Amino acid sequence: MRIYREKDYDAMSRRAANIISAEVIRRPDCVLGLATGSTPIGTYKQLAAWNQRGDFSFKEVHSVNLDEYKGLSGDHDQSYRYFMQKNLFDHIDILPENTYVPSGLAEDPEEECRRYDELVKSFGYADLQLLGLGRNGHIGFNEPSDHFVKETHVVDLTESTIEANARFFASADDVPKQALTMGIGCIMAARRILLIASGADKADAIYKTVCGPITPECPASILQLHPDVVLVCDEAALSKLE
Ligand code: F6R
Repeated sequence: MRIYREKDYDAMSRRAANIISAEVIRRPDCVLGLATGSTPIGTYKQLAAWNQRGDFSFKEVHSVNLDEYKGLSGDHDQSYRYFMQKNLFDHIDILPENTYVPSGLAEDPEEECRRYDELVKSFGYADLQLLGLGRNGHIGFNEPSDHFVKETHVVDLTESTIEANARFFASADDVPKQALTMGIGCIMAARRILLIASGADKADAIYKTVCGPITPECPASILQLHPDVVLVCDEAALSKLE
C-alpha cells in the first residue's frame, strides 16, 4: 500500500486528480470505477478543470460507479446518478452512454445486480477504482458484517451510514434504507485502487484499513490483500497512523 500524506482536503483532491488523470493519459480508453460522497467532489472539480483546459480527454473512457440508492431515480437530486452528472459528467467530455451507475429503480433489484456484475466483468473490471471510506470502514456500500459479499448486491444501510448521509436529505427518515452496491469481488478485481479520505472522523477507519486485522467488520481492511492500492489522505485522516 502506498500512502500519500497531504496537508488538507484541497491537496488531497489535487493529488487524487493527478493519479486519475495520469491513468487517462496513459490509457485513454481506460475503465474508471467511480465513487460518490463528499470526499471526491474536489477531485472531480480538479479533473473537470484540467479536462476543460484540454489537458486530456475522457472521450474514450468508460466509467462504472460503485453504488446507487434503491428506490431513487437517476433524476432524484440525492441519487448517485444525479450526483455524478452534477459533479463530474456534465462538466467533462465523457460520452453519456459510456457512464454506468446501477439503476435504483429496477423492478427486480437482484437481477439488476447480476446485470451490473456482468457489465463490469465484460469491461475486464476497472483499470482504476476510486473509493471513499465510510466512518465504519465501508467501501461502496459494503457495510461491516460477518462476511464479505463478492458480487453486486442489495444491502441494508447501517444506522451509522444513514445518519452520516442524513445531511443530504431533509431528515434521516428520508434517507433510503437500502442500496445496490458493487461487491468486494468487483472492487478487488480492479487493476489499481485509489482510496481517498479526509478529516479526523475517518482516522479510525484509516487506521483499521491499514493496520487492523483483515475482517468484514472493517470491509476496507481487505484492501491489504490487493497488490496495487494507493491511499491519498489528508493529515487529519492519517492522525491515528503515527
Ligand atoms: C459512495 C460510496 C461510499 C462513500 C463513503 C464516504 O459511492 O461508495 O462508500 O465513499 O460513504 O462518504 P463521504 O465521502 O461522504 O465521507
